[in-house]
Amino acid sequence: MKLTYYGHSAFLVETAGHKLLFDPFLSGNPHAAGVVSAADLHPDVILLTHAHGDHWGDTLEIARQSGALIVANFEITSYAQRNGHDRVQPMNTGGSWNFPWGRLTQTYARHSSSFPDGTYGGNPNGYLLCAEGRWIYNTGDTSPFTEMAWIGEDFAVDLALMPIGDCFTMGPEGAVRATKLIRPKLTVPLHYGTFPMIEVDTNRWAEQMAAAGFAARVLNPGEHLHL
Ligand code: NI
Ligand code: MN
Repeated sequence: MKLTYYGHSAFLVETAGHKLLFDPFLSGNPHAAGVVSAADLHPDVILLTHAHGDHWGDTLEIARQSGALIVANFEITSYAQRNGHDRVQPMNTGGSWNFPWGRLTQTYARHSSSFPDGTYGGNPNGYLLCAEGRWIYNTGDTSPFTEMAWIGEDFAVDLALMPIGDCFTMGPEGAVRATKLIRPKLTVPLHYGTFPMIEVDTNRWAEQMAAAGFAARVLNPGEHLHL
């Protein structure tokens, strides 16, 4: 399984011949500029954590050109259908669904969710993905919350992806707290440095993670890792 980071909260998981694209905010994402553009990506699936513009991003354009299945909460898939894209799989918090490429659970996330045009986007979510026997937890935009400990107890998370940028989500200290609850084998940070309001020192975060006894890896935009 290969995971490629495109900056902000956008990343691609390639597993067993399927391409899963999370939160494809590429146009207007300075960290994606020169690395990837919406036209380059032909995912089989687009997964949205919530409807904010820095996550919804290029979803409709990419879905139209690739015919990708859009996986998101009910409000987001309904919005996609109203905008002419019918290949959707609606879910909601706590629910799981089996796909040809693996099993997905929508988790709680403590945030908000509305589309750039102001349409209500339902509740924000994270995703627990099980594919090829590996568990990936993308927390989505969130603060730490105590039920993350249940995820840590119930699932052997191989890789956690979580925001560290502060201001709109948890910051570096919050991400260390979340990691203590989730206990993943590795944590990769998201949602930082894209805009002045979410600039943080990733080295300091990595030091805090090391001091707490957790593995951390900062991926540069375009960089990938294998699981
Ligand atoms: Ni958001
Ligand atoms: Mn965001």
